[in-house]
Amino acid sequence: MKKKINSKKQKASHSQWSSRGVFLLAAIGSAVGLGNIWKFPYIVGENGGGAFVLVYLFCIVLVGVPVLIAEIALGKSVQSNPVSTFSTLAMACKASRFWALFGYVGIVSGFLILSFYSVVAGWSLEYLQVFIQNDLLGSDARAIEQYFTQLLASPNTLLLWHSVFMLLTVAIVARGIRKGIEKIIIWSMPILFVILVILVLYATQLEGFSKAFDYLFVADFSKLTTDGVLIALGHSFFTLSLGMGAMMVYGSYLQKDTPVVKLSFIIAIADTLVALMAGLAIFPLIFTYGLESTSGPSLLFISLPNALLSLPFGQFFGIAFFFLLLIAALSSAISILEPVVSFIQQKTRLSRHFVTYLIGSIVWLIGVGALLAFNDWSDVHLLGQRNIFDSLDYVTTSILLPLGGLGVSIFAVWVVSKQPNTRQLLGISDSKYPIWRISAGIIAPIVIGVIAWHGLN
Ligand code: PFF
Repeated sequence: MKKKINSKKQKASHSQWSSRGVFLLAAIGSAVGLGNIWKFPYIVGENGGGAFVLVYLFCIVLVGVPVLIAEIALGKSVQSNPVSTFSTLAMACKASRFWALFGYVGIVSGFLILSFYSVVAGWSLEYLQVFIQNDLLGSDARAIEQYFTQLLASPNTLLLWHSVFMLLTVAIVARGIRKGIEKIIIWSMPILFVILVILVLYATQLEGFSKAFDYLFVADFSKLTTDGVLIALGHSFFTLSLGMGAMMVYGSYLQKDTPVVKLSFIIAIADTLVALMAGLAIFPLIFTYGLESTSGPSLLFISLPNALLSLPFGQFFGIAFFFLLLIAALSSAISILEPVVSFIQQKTRLSRHFVTYLIGSIVWLIGVGALLAFNDWSDVHLLGQRNIFDSLDYVTTSILLPLGGLGVSIFAVWVVSKQPNTRQLLGISDSKYPIWRISAGIIAPIVIGVIAWHGLN
């Protein structure tokens, strides 16, 4: 059985990371993205602060880590794209080939997520340019708010930055694992951490720091709603890049003897630290300036610029902040594109370059629909009252990612790890196996089922 799986791997001549450290950086790069720096602070703000953070941390430990272990372990065991990982293992376990459908769910999610992710990443490019040129200097709060409203109302500007961001992503992925993804990750991740530490240190000097600290870490459960709990669950999934094969395909470039449990914990801890540090960098600014933390998605694009422009060295820290947002988004975007490229390339045997540019163009086109939702096509509703952007977000975050995650955890525990030979391929040590089995095989599916059910209602 093992031989069969190995020979398949050789046929596909699958790439490998140059070291475990690089894999860690790339996986952390995938996890750390707009989810941590843009979305986490604003959902904390919308859901009342500390109690929400606590629930989120529970979700990361109870659901996120076990599913992350399953995804990386499955990828590493077959060393192929997500679809053939499912089908090869299903065959080896004499299970139904329909399991491969979960691989396809991941591929479809990749197309859809990247299209709207790139639009938001484009906003960070716009604001990076704004801070470099100091365009908002001297503007009052109203003008700063209008700037963002006007950005959303201008399809051409949104299109420009969406195109630039997609082009950057495609150009990196087209060059492959070692020449493209590794080269970018190796310098961008350390820079990201340094900038974040500097921003947090800066924030500690501000008047609003202690209020921000209490806001994030003192739990007031009266502010927590059922909705908040479910948002925390869904976000733990999105932030760890689970459910669409990104971690699976990154795991597939690991050597077979790599221990996955320890690496998964490191990835989850780093991702959580970045989210909390982003909160500790952003909220002190907001509170010092006397703004509210509850402004939703515009927190980073209206409240933050407002606060920065009123503070010493605001321009410098604004540039640092939006550059941080850009590299975080880029290292995640490449991991969203990679599973799709790896699947289509292995399936068609066309050149990686061609496949990446082709897929990039399709994703770009869907993204055009997403950005028009803010202006010319704001009346176009796809799912219920949702515009194109919201529909893409809803279908992926509330349906496809939980479905993909459910498939991964049930498949890993109840199919693959049932057979001694395939269980061995997962490489989860005997001491950790029972805990992982309960958390990935029972707790995670129940929790994911609840999220999916809620998402559909
Ligand atoms: N984890 C990324 C973030 O927090 O922004 C988003 C993401 C990346 C989701 C890769 C899914 C994925 F496969």
